Amino acid sequence: MIKDYRDFISEILIPEDVLQERIKQLGSQISEDYRGKNLLLICILRGGVIFLTDLIRSISIPHAIEFMAVSSYGVGKRKTSGDVRITLDLITSIHDRDVLIVEDIIDSGNTIASVLDLLSTRKPKSLNICTLLDKTERREVEIPIKYCGFEIPNKFVFGYGLDIDEYYRNLPFIGVVDLNRYKDNISNGVK
Ligand code: IMP
Ligand code: MG
Repeated sequence: MIKDYRDFISEILIPEDVLQERIKQLGSQISEDYRGKNLLLICILRGGVIFLTDLIRSISIPHAIEFMAVSSYGVGKRKTSGDVRITLDLITSIHDRDVLIVEDIIDSGNTIASVLDLLSTRKPKSLNICTLLDKTERREVEIPIKYCGFEIPNKFVFGYGLDIDEYYRNLPFIGVVDLNRYKDNISNGVK
């Protein structure tokens, strides 16, 4: 059995109402900044998907959405390597478009740095980042972030799109995991 999150959560870091309020602010800011532009939001799967769907409902200007996926660390690992792979590429062209990448969290920065490198070769008109969470303390490469929901401390978080070994993305808040209480999930066979 996969554990209930209540068995290992140590605290709710960002409650649902605070998340939703901040996302509304980000949506209005983006609507103002991109008025008259050809805005394309690119969601990085899978963590960014909940954030994207709430965010676009707070954006009042016309825009399109796209998805891409990059390989992250595997089950039981809590850190990305510099070796990031594109596992699902975009369907449409980003040439000459105003691209905003939508991410759940920037940690070391390795994942987003690779995405930026790749997408910039396709000559978008502009290329910026909107991340819900920023773990600044863990940064290994410098990343220019245009929009950030919340700066958070160096703790492993889950919920609202962020997973622990692929589970718990559905929770409407951001919680902190107590890894000592969580670890049985892995020994109980989560693959
Ligand atoms: P980075 O390459 O180290 O910046 O890691 C970025 C990716 O790692 C994010 O897109 C997340 O999928 C994942 N990640 C980083 N920190 C956490 C966390 O605290 N909880 C869940 N996933 C995380
Ligand atoms: Mg992830």
